Amino acid sequence: MSDPILRRIPWNFDGVKFIWNPDQPFFSVAMNKVSFLAAGFEKYICRTIDAAEPPITDPAVLAEVRAFRAQEGLHAMAHRKHVKALIETYPGLPQALDKTIALYDDQFEAKELKYHLGYVGGLESIFTPNFKVLIDNRATLFAGGDTRVSSLLLWHFCEEIEHRSSGLIVYDHVVMTTLGEEFANCVHDAPPEILSARQSGINIPRRDKLKSAFGILMSQMPWHNPEHQLLPKYFDEWNERFDRGEDMKTTYGQGSIIQSVQAA
Ligand SMILES: [Fe+2]
Ligand SMILES: [Fe+2]
Repeated sequence: MSDPILRRIPWNFDGVKFIWNPDQPFFSVAMNKVSFLAAGFEKYICRTIDAAEPPITDPAVLAEVRAFRAQEGLHAMAHRKHVKALIETYPGLPQALDKTIALYDDQFEAKELKYHLGYVGGLESIFTPNFKVLIDNRATLFAGGDTRVSSLLLWHFCEEIEHRSSGLIVYDHVVMTTLGEEFANCVHDAPPEILSARQSGINIPRRDKLKSAFGILMSQMPWHNPEHQLLPKYFDEWNERFDRGEDMKTTYGQGSIIQSVQAA
């Protein structure tokens, strides 16, 4: 568990400029977008957690979930204050805020809880590497900016890193554990500790697991093309067997008619 800490900081952005860091105008705009997005996204997280909380009985998970939700609620309020200050100067901006919130409200209405938990867990997982690069380059990105906005963002990014596991903990508990518990309720001829295990006890060499993890990571990159992926040799073998007319219902495993070939 990550035990997120609630830090109530009295933010004030009165008179803040849109380009709050004149050395970094593009970054200023990008981070203003973060404030608008945070208003919608953090609300979406809070609604997701509110919906996920009732069936959670594990006290440790419950404490994590509540602290996670409270921290995100504070983020939403702080970014709203920033947005409100920008709206004071640019009265047309509420439309941008409404559109952003509506995007996430629509997504919440359109999908089921499992989707929201996967979405939140996945997105929260990429925040740490994403925000690390910004924090590591703070002298370039934040030092020349209005201290109130620079500090708001650094606070938010540090707390995102602090609760980096929370989204996944909730997803694992509500989605994966629930499935395991359902199996354990219905399947009585297998040990319950196997049915409800959250950690895989599958025996695959560590090197192969690492290769697979790296491949999965690369498959999520924007330049990824599935055509260039490394394929298992068995893929061609399977197709050759199919083309030869082999009975593919019994092509591998105990009871297969060609076990002697597989062993080779
Ligand atoms: Fe947040
Ligand atoms: Fe977060």
